[in-house]
Amino acid sequence: MNKVIILDFGSQYTQLIARRIRELKIYAEIHPYNVSLSFLKKESPQALILSGGPQSVYEEGAPLISPEIFHLGIPVLGICYGAQLIAHLLGGEVVPAKKREYGLAELKVIDQSGLLHGLDRISQVWMSHGDLVKKIPANFLITGITANTRAAVIENTVYKIFGVQFHPEVTHTIEGKKILSNFLFKLAGLKPEWSISNFLENKVKEIKEKVGQAKVIAGLSGGVDSLVASLIVHQAVGHRLICLFVDNGLLRKGQYETALKTFRKRYGLNIVTIKACDRFINNLKGVISPERKRKIIGRTFIEIFEEQARKFKGVDFLAQGTIYPDVIESTPVKGPSARIKSHHNVGGLPTKLPFKLLEPLRELFKDEVRQLGLELGIDREFLEQHPFPGPGLAVRIIGEVTPERLSILREADNILLQEIKKAGLYEKLWQAFAVLLPVKSVGIMGDQRTYQQVVVLRLVESLDGLTANWFPAPNELLAKVASRIVNEVAGVNRVVYDITTKPPATIEWE
Ligand code: XMP
Repeated sequence: MNKVIILDFGSQYTQLIARRIRELKIYAEIHPYNVSLSFLKKESPQALILSGGPQSVYEEGAPLISPEIFHLGIPVLGICYGAQLIAHLLGGEVVPAKKREYGLAELKVIDQSGLLHGLDRISQVWMSHGDLVKKIPANFLITGITANTRAAVIENTVYKIFGVQFHPEVTHTIEGKKILSNFLFKLAGLKPEWSISNFLENKVKEIKEKVGQAKVIAGLSGGVDSLVASLIVHQAVGHRLICLFVDNGLLRKGQYETALKTFRKRYGLNIVTIKACDRFINNLKGVISPERKRKIIGRTFIEIFEEQARKFKGVDFLAQGTIYPDVIESTPVKGPSARIKSHHNVGGLPTKLPFKLLEPLRELFKDEVRQLGLELGIDREFLEQHPFPGPGLAVRIIGEVTPERLSILREADNILLQEIKKAGLYEKLWQAFAVLLPVKSVGIMGDQRTYQQVVVLRLVESLDGLTANWFPAPNELLAKVASRIVNEVAGVNRVVYDITTKPPATIEWE
């Protein structure tokens, strides 16, 4: 099968490169930049991509590769840091830019015969760099320039080595996909043969080999990701997968019961149910800090998993539905992608785990997980449900989580969902949910003064959860939801609408 290897120099967009390549129906694997030459020779990919990265090629300790890579006869595309590395290793010169360039730029296409084939003469690209290529290596041509970057695109068509200073993998680079497909199809000669069923096949094989005869436990959360992950593992290890479905008391109204019914009716999974509402609530008593809540919930899950694993001998693995956005938002790295919050299934887990982790969805985005779900026979309606965070309603109750506050939020949230569905907006939105604030406000009901809690409505549109826009909901809908909540949910006398985008806010409030 055709294969591309992406060498990772630490850019926050490396997975996005892989995703774009998958969209072009080509199999891509990401490996650390320092894999050996013999490994690359053995793998013999049809193309190599050098990712971006936060460092400078001339810095001490900067991640470098052997220049011999350029003599393997494999076409290479360097992106941002990757392009600078090509220049640096092949006799060019990279220097700090006078001004860090961040954001949109206009690419002027000089030569359309190679990488920039079929592009508009002026094309919008997205830049994020503090260095630039001052002198290009011998036998390279500059084929694209921007106002601040002379060597925005460099090409050596004889050795098939290419570099772009901007990021073709991000959607802000309007013709980025065209550039990647020129590289892959026109210049490296690959064929579009890969599909999500290949992904499934490969993952099942990989898990089979990894797990051997051991047992695996998987936590089902009631959502899409953990079910898809469990079904993949189930294909690989069959009855040696034990699914634990913990009722932590932090789910939406009716979510546990509905999901359990679906899981039981279909799929043939071996499911153990555990009632642990009181345990989670007790552990969360008096806790206000969002990060502490996330850690406590992660730890409580793991304690329960450990207890259960002891009952079934031979459990060596824990399968989780971690997806790629969970990974980036939880990764405490230097540079631009500092840790935002500890997604409980990655950053919220204790550092020492008694299991080895299986995370078959770790490199996928939500829509790819949904495609995989369809492939696995999951109903479209179940797959289209909105994402729900692992720590559940605990991160939508600002301040202390108590049974009373949970019950208020659940009712308010349920009204919101009912009305959103009635208005035919559910599928259009990435998420719609209610948040309970830790403040009270004065109101009037009948002739009585009230002093009660405030509910926030959060409705967002998004492609992948990494950025989001607040949804301009119709006034009638907002009015209906607000009126129903204050009338039907005891303890709430005010409803407000969240009109912030991500960034600077996040989607969830904690
Ligand atoms: P934020 O709030 O960071 O959320 O903008 C981005 C997306 O991730 C979901 N989310 C989580 N998903 N475990 C998950 O599986 C978590 O701990 C978690 N926290 C946030 C969130 O609902 C949104 O879709």
